[in-house]
Amino acid sequence: MKKRFLKVIAFTAAVTMAAAMITTASAAIPSDGSTNAEEFAAANNNTANWENWKANWDTVRDNWEYVSITPGSNESEMNFAWYSQTRTVWFTVSEKEDMSSPVFSRVIVGTADDSIKKADVQYYACRTSVSNLSAGTYYYRIGSGEVNSFDVKDTSDGFSFIFVGDPQIGSSNSMKGSKADSEEALAKFYGLQSDAVRSDSFNWNYTLTKALEKSADASFVLSAGDQIQSRKKDAPAIATDNTFSEVEYSGFLSAPVLRSLPLAPTVGNHDASMPNYTYHFNTPNNSELGSNGIVGGDYWFTYGNALFMVLNTQDTNTEEHKQFIEEAVAANPDSTWRFVTLHQDIYGSAEHSNEPEITDLRYQLVPYFEENDIDVVFSGHDHAYSRTLMLKGAEKTSAYYDDNEDEYDEMFEYDIDTDEEISGPVYTAYQMIKDDTADEKQKAYLEYLDAVNDKNAIEETGTETAVNPDGILYMTANSSSGSKYYDLTSRMQSYVAGRWQEDIPTYSVVDITDTTFTINTYRTDTNEKIDTQFTIVKETEPEYISGDISGNGRIDLYDAIEICKNIMGMRTFNDEEKAVADYNGDGVIDLYDAIGIAKKLLEK
Ligand SMILES: [Fe+2]
Ligand SMILES: [Fe+2]
Repeated sequence: MKKRFLKVIAFTAAVTMAAAMITTASAAIPSDGSTNAEEFAAANNNTANWENWKANWDTVRDNWEYVSITPGSNESEMNFAWYSQTRTVWFTVSEKEDMSSPVFSRVIVGTADDSIKKADVQYYACRTSVSNLSAGTYYYRIGSGEVNSFDVKDTSDGFSFIFVGDPQIGSSNSMKGSKADSEEALAKFYGLQSDAVRSDSFNWNYTLTKALEKSADASFVLSAGDQIQSRKKDAPAIATDNTFSEVEYSGFLSAPVLRSLPLAPTVGNHDASMPNYTYHFNTPNNSELGSNGIVGGDYWFTYGNALFMVLNTQDTNTEEHKQFIEEAVAANPDSTWRFVTLHQDIYGSAEHSNEPEITDLRYQLVPYFEENDIDVVFSGHDHAYSRTLMLKGAEKTSAYYDDNEDEYDEMFEYDIDTDEEISGPVYTAYQMIKDDTADEKQKAYLEYLDAVNDKNAIEETGTETAVNPDGILYMTANSSSGSKYYDLTSRMQSYVAGRWQEDIPTYSVVDITDTTFTINTYRTDTNEKIDTQFTIVKETEPEYISGDISGNGRIDLYDAIEICKNIMGMRTFNDEEKAVADYNGDGVIDLYDAIGIAKKLLEK
């Protein structure tokens, strides 16, 4: 979307919080587009850290060798990827900080590729997976480098993870997408890119730090895509290689939190066009299904009682995603929770969410999600937060009046845009097309918007808790780095339960147990919630054993005695006890039930 000037039309329900931000940081927080780290740090008493970040920046920028940890196939595995300037390198894991008695020690042979060659320096892409780990702290070292640690969690009582969207490191670069077709322009491009990555990665690191303050025991970060900004088509015209996005990966991976905390990435439209994405992230159970031929396809992992299926929907062949989901579920039939992550916000509430490209993907994928009993779908792409009601059975009921994309874009742009220059923060898009318009094309456009509201797919549940819902919850993450924000749609969709945009980075914490899924979302400046806590409860039916009145899991003489007491009027059964006391199933509770139990005991 092009940067535009929008009229301030709404300060939404969060006017109080917004006003607080404006008074404390009106000059600090840009009204449109992104969060500048220097101003954000100044507004949040973090200036010293920012000065330190700037002082170290040249070293970080030129370091392509940050390790990246991703979850392994399950919680007892951990995957690693890194660049090395030597083709072979030792990788060691130990339970001891002095790296003695290693549990894993192996020479890793890296892969060379022109796309990871910087000037005369050839980098080698290395990766390995460490398995059979039990709960506890482990230390690891690449070659003779620094020793870092990671934790393997005990998931028997549940686990937590952090959900983020669109770090898109480098997106605040004002020259992004520019062809930079002269030496002078190229130098300027790289300078602005470096400044942008320095700012975005500072904010990204700040978000991760705040998230871990809130959820110190989090097992991993789930990122819904667009880890970095630069796509192949954004390459400066005179750049001679594919490495111009490497500085963005350096910024992304430089966050100290990521030395210890795994991150499960999703392929976003900004990640999909160059293979260095696959060199940086060693994801588990990679499938060819969903592959776009450059960065691989879908992948899955289990963690505790949950199955995570991460789709590469830059491949829009939804039949492949269907097959992948079926295969992943078949391989893990007993997982209590089934989660899908994909980049596009098929039920979001910002500028991208109503695009036919996105809603078409929705109507193709939702039936597959429902057939496979998916509980929650995580997405990003729209750089604004939203949470849906529980949704089930959506069907495509309207095609846009014209397949001509240009005409659609024109209508869409016209509705949300205004040429009037405005000042101050804008969080909700303008609304040029009025609800009572007489224009036929505008009326058709509004009918389309109404159709994709999916009013008929809304399941009635509690506002803060859904117990055994049939439907699916769809979460869309805001920008986690502040590198770019989109405005909310001027007409909030019927399917939305909560949404938020105040041009502040956010993150969510998800807590999982055998019976509950709980999500909370926080803004990083105050670390306060931006939405109510939402919980999905899975109540499992208690298992009744016929004759087991005491509920101790077996039938015994006491159960027969209780039946006798009931017959004699010495005690009254409740409904559950009545259900199991009719041992012979003849519809009455009588002496024959007690005799039946006694006979059964004698048989034993
Ligand atoms: Fe994005
Ligand atoms: Fe995106």
